[in-house]
Amino acid sequence: MISGDMEIIRRSRQAPQTTAQFDLVARIYPALERLVFGVRLDNARKAFFEEVLDADRVLLVGEGNGRFLKSLIARKRAGYVCVVERSKVMIRLAKDRAGDSGKVGLEFIEADFRAYRPEQDFDCVVTHFFLDLFNPPSQLAIIEKMAESVADGGTWINVDFVPARTLRHEILMSLQYAFFRVVSRIESKRCFDESEAATAAGWTVAEAISYLGGLVVAKRYRKNGLQVA
Ligand SMILES: C[S@@+](CC[C@H](N)C(=O)[O-])C[C@H]1O[C@@H](n2cnc3c(N)ncnc32)[C@H](O)[C@@H]1O
Repeated sequence: MISGDMEIIRRSRQAPQTTAQFDLVARIYPALERLVFGVRLDNARKAFFEEVLDADRVLLVGEGNGRFLKSLIARKRAGYVCVVERSKVMIRLAKDRAGDSGKVGLEFIEADFRAYRPEQDFDCVVTHFFLDLFNPPSQLAIIEKMAESVADGGTWINVDFVPARTLRHEILMSLQYAFFRVVSRIESKRCFDESEAATAAGWTVAEAISYLGGLVVAKRYRKNGLQVA
């Protein structure tokens, strides 16, 4: 495992960087989620699952305590899965939850994704409820980094909250952000749509599915470049 003290890469369009702390909530995170959303976020996490299953090299960014990883490992028969996750406790829980990965190569990297340097391109990157922690400049830096990490024609699956369009959703999101700002010191005070940054970084939306009455959207992005059928 690579240490979490990797130097943050300086770029000309450098985003202000704060470090979210999910160690404190790692163990209670699934229970908290169930309390508020039931199993509906789990349903959203299953979006475009076959695409991830079929990819040879998969990158999971901010995977948390490994619920998605467990279902992926249970079905995947070959290939390589790399988890880049900032929280030590989340990584420990994800490792325990995933168990034996069989013929699938599985690697955990404890690092801020912005400091991660992949040695080889990935075919598919997955972010679940991750980008909503960040303000637009950080989102752009992360999305650019993902584009650098994925081969042309490769896939990015993003499942996340989107800016609220109803009063009920707005109240729910405000409470959620207030909680995570205090407990996990997340950067963002509200939810920002990643679409513009995605386009700027060379990603095109191929498909989108709405969940929870439009509060959550799953998007399948394709990296521009090589034309894939
Ligand atoms: C809101 S949780 C979502 C976890 C999981 N993907 C899910 O769907 O439940 C965000 C996760 O991103 C991780 N994280 C936050 N900032 C990160 C960063 N800069 N690099 C890598 N992981 C990060 C946190 O530790 C946490 O596990």
